[in-house]
Amino acid sequence: MEKKNIDWANLGFGYIKTDYRYVSNYKNGAWDEGVITEDDKVVISECAGVLQYAQTVFEGMKAYTTTDGRTVVFRPDLNAKRMAESAARLEMPVFPEDRFLDAVKQVVKANEAYVPPFGSGATLYLRPYMFGSNPVIGVKPADEYQFRIFATPVGPYFKGGVKPLTIRVSDFDRAAPNGTGHIKAGLNYAMSLHAIVDAHNQGYDENMYLDAATRTYVEETGGANFLFVTKDGKVVTPKSNSILPSITRRSLIQVAQEYLGLEAEEREIPLEEVKDMAECGLCGTAAVISPVGKIVDHGKEICLPSGMTEMGPITKKLYDTLTGIQMGTIKAPEGWVVEIK
Ligand code: PLP
Ligand code: COI
Repeated sequence: MEKKNIDWANLGFGYIKTDYRYVSNYKNGAWDEGVITEDDKVVISECAGVLQYAQTVFEGMKAYTTTDGRTVVFRPDLNAKRMAESAARLEMPVFPEDRFLDAVKQVVKANEAYVPPFGSGATLYLRPYMFGSNPVIGVKPADEYQFRIFATPVGPYFKGGVKPLTIRVSDFDRAAPNGTGHIKAGLNYAMSLHAIVDAHNQGYDENMYLDAATRTYVEETGGANFLFVTKDGKVVTPKSNSILPSITRRSLIQVAQEYLGLEAEEREIPLEEVKDMAECGLCGTAAVISPVGKIVDHGKEICLPSGMTEMGPITKKLYDTLTGIQMGTIKAPEGWVVEIK
């Protein structure tokens, strides 16, 4: 398979149109058989449920080239399951999980020329999503939906790659206690746009959102979960019903325990405790693990001992082990790495 002529090493996290995408439509209570198409345009009613009431959910995952030249995706079964849960919460029909996995394989296979070569630093980002497509004017779920997956080659989510980030404690809330923070719905991102633009305008890379009810516990950022390392070398991640259950974070906890022999736990983390942490990172499919060097809480600076030039040592070990598993240089736990044949 001849690869496209792309400057892989200098890709940012942006959209590049690839050759093929997958589309399936839901109508009269059933999904059609689905097709791979070259048509990147979506044509829907001006009154489509997604346009009026934001009835849309999505996923994010990546395809990689391994050291021995195989094309693989990381734990796609968990994306399929999470998308089913997201859809159910927004009263959308579930796209069957086995069909989700098959569609992922079809899209990656069709766009194999866009899967970046091993060692290039880039990956093929996959974006499964679905939305209400028929006219809806009273507030209710749509009757018709479209499920799609497109692929786009990407580099690092944060400019500067692994340079530690500076984030701020946000005054805006991301998710309500019994709201939709735990699902991957477009609405959670729409409401974060003002907060991120404001953070960027003030010189910060991201927002640290706190729990909306008490504003005392750490939740997550707009697009990634937090991971901290305590001064005695324990990996801790925030536990909350209103954050997205990150597949990267769940994998890292297992990597910490089983590959690195570290203690790792998910628990509530008071903002007050952050000043005592040794390392901090943002973890997610797009972010992988992006180190945080400084957290600013209304003028009060928390400078992580790992500093502003490099990843903390444990964060680095986690990063190297996870990416090693994904790229096939380290043996993966059963079922984590799925080959596209
Ligand atoms: N939190 C939010 C709000 C996200 O958008 C993402 C990205 O998917 C994550 C966390 C990380 O989740 P995952 O590791 O499954 O990509
Ligand atoms: C991902 O990590 O896949 C996401 O969806 C996060 C998004 C902010 C790019």
